[in-house]
Parts: sequence; structure tokens; C-alpha cells
Amino acid sequence: MLKRYLLAPGPTPVPSEVLLAMAAPIIHHRSPDFLPVIDSAKKGLQWLYQTKNDVLILSSTGTGGMVGTVNNFFTRGDKVLVINGGKFGERWTKICQAYELDVEEIVVEWGYAVKPEVVEEKLKKDKNVKGVFVQATETSTGVAHDIRALGSVVGKYEGTLFIVDAISSLVAHDLRTDEWGIDVMIGGSQKGVMLPPGIAFVSVSDKAWTRAETAKLPKFYFNFRKERENLAKNQTNFTSPVTLIIGLNESLKMLKAEGLEAVFKRHAVLANATRKAVQAIGLDVFPKESPSNSVTAIVAPQGIDGQAIYKNLREKYGITAAGGQDKAKGKIFRIAHLGYADRFDTIIAIAGIEMVLKGMGYPVKFGTGVAVAEELLMAEEGK
Ligand SMILES: Cc1ncc(COP(=O)(O)O)c(C=O)c1O
Repeated sequence: MLKRYLLAPGPTPVPSEVLLAMAAPIIHHRSPDFLPVIDSAKKGLQWLYQTKNDVLILSSTGTGGMVGTVNNFFTRGDKVLVINGGKFGERWTKICQAYELDVEEIVVEWGYAVKPEVVEEKLKKDKNVKGVFVQATETSTGVAHDIRALGSVVGKYEGTLFIVDAISSLVAHDLRTDEWGIDVMIGGSQKGVMLPPGIAFVSVSDKAWTRAETAKLPKFYFNFRKERENLAKNQTNFTSPVTLIIGLNESLKMLKAEGLEAVFKRHAVLANATRKAVQAIGLDVFPKESPSNSVTAIVAPQGIDGQAIYKNLREKYGITAAGGQDKAKGKIFRIAHLGYADRFDTIIAIAGIEMVLKGMGYPVKFGTGVAVAEELLMAEEGK
């Protein structure tokens, strides 16, 4: 038997409580039964997003939320700035280009976070920038961009929307939508909120709603103004992902019971223990600065293929982590600590890495990383 452990940065494990809630019979999305379900989900999402804004619920993966954002707030030819520090920054560029926006990229070396001054410089020079697009966590490199600092820069420009892909950050990072001036923030179900794939969430500020009135890109499936009207009536525009929304209420209940601060702290503690443990084994973490609390990208030791580490973790020990993408393929592997993740997931990950590396001829003294993780995790007990 090979027991499976899901330690990838999405999809992430779904707690039994949530799975059981989703086993309930389907209710009709236009029936009165559904109204309190979506009402509770929309209020719960506002709590999680730390916002008074509407948080739309879309039947799509996270990328659908990204596409809908471009569709609803922009017009062909609009000048936009995209922060591209990895595969998902690149995705913003590709989506914006697909809809013929005028994209200027701020290219950030993989493993680094964008410098807010660079964004400020660009915005000062060009008063015509209609939006700044960024990831809260660039999942491909494991770097967290400084959303608070970026929010205070972009917020000075009346005509510029600040758009954050928080798909892999939501729940793992404190992201204060209203306080930090985030106009649009996108989340996805299969990450921090501990659900199967299939829904995206999008918060929209008043400034962004005003923009939506004049934005001219064609839209049909992702029509945010229609979604907003429906949400006010506890509905969605098309058939609601009923089962996932029922599951969402259960996962929000679990997160509320833990408390937002404790949730963020748990992710920070697991991420720190993961980094220190792999460093104790002699490995480097890939981010040179600002590592994310959702996922740790680890550099494969000299002469060892990162993809082979990822493959061996899965095939020999049942641990599904993630490999590197694009130019980081073979050079790194990634371990998530996102959503339904606790101390023993970290211990499993570190023990698995030690065993795989040993099997691949890397000199590792068993227990070195595990001991460091145990020390750090126990030090947090009772705090
Ligand atoms: C930061 C980020 N953005 C976007 C996506 C794409 O999400 P989806 O696969 O749900 O469309 C992901 C998924 O890994 C992600 O981590």
C-alpha cells in the first residue's frame, strides 16, 4: 500500500468535515433552500478577504477569475503594467495581450520580489496606466510580493486599478483588501480554502465598479455587473456550483473557529519550519527574498534533478509535491503548506525529502531536517 499525501500548491487536501458537507443532496440553486447557503458564503468571503466589497463567486478555476477581471474593467488598447516574476505573472501578460491591452511588463528576476519603487517610477512617468497586475504569491518561484506596499503606491493614482491574483495566497497570507487599497483580488477554491477545484472568488472595490461602467471589452460568461446584481439576491448569474458553495461554508466555519490571525500564524510557522529544515539538510531555498507562507521552492542539490526528486517523492513515498516550471524545471521542487496543513504534514515532507535525497546519493544524516522542524514547531506550542 502507498498512502497518499497531497503537499502540492493546489489542489490541496480537503478536510473530512468539508467532504461530508458536500455529500448532502443537491438543492436547486433558484430555490429558497439555497438563499441562506450563498448568503452565508458571501458574508464568510468578506470576512476572509477583510473587505466590505462584493466578493463574486464564479464557476471556474482561478484563471477564469483572472480573465473575467480583464474582461470587466478594461478596454482594448488600455495601457497596463504587469509584474512578471514567474509563470503566473506571465499569465497576466498573456491574458491582457489576448484581449489586446497595451501591456508593459516589469520583469522581475525569478526568486525576487518586485520593488515598489520601480512600480512608482513607472506610474509617475505614465499617468495613463489603467491597471497594475501582480501575484500575492508567485507560485512558480515561491516568492510573496509586498501587496501592502504596492497598494499604497498604486492607491495614489486615481485612474489606476490595483489587481491582485491571490489564488495561492488567500488564507496563507494576511491580505487586507480594504485597508491596503486592493481593487480586485482573485482567489481559487483548490488552494487555501480547502475545497476541490471549481470556483473562483473576485472582490471588487467601488473604484473598480466605476471603471466597469465604461470598460468596453466584450464579455458574456464573466459579466461581473450581472454577477453583482445576482449576488445581491443571493444568486449567481448561471447555475451555481451548489456543492462547492456548501463545502465553502464548512471550510469557512473551520477557519473562523481557528481565527484569522491564528490561520496566518499557522502558515507562517509551517513555512518557516520547512525552510529551516531543508537548509539544515544543506539545501537552499529558491527565493532570495520574501519567501511565501503558502509554498516553499527548494533548489535541487548540484547534480540532482529536481524533477527526479519530485517524481521519487510521489512514486516511492506517496508524497505529491510539485516540480519546477519553465526555466526552473529540473532546478527546483516545491512543497506547499497551504490550507488544510499542519505540523505533521511538514514532518512528512521533510522526512520524505531526506529519504529521497539519501536514495539519490546525496549525503544526508537522517533526522537532521526533521529535528530542526520538530524543534521549531514545538517552540510554537502554547504561544
Ligand atoms: C498564483 C496563481 N495564479 C493562478 C493560478 C491558476 O489557477 P487555476 O489553475 O485555478 O486556473 C494558480 C494555480 O496554480 C496560481 O498559483
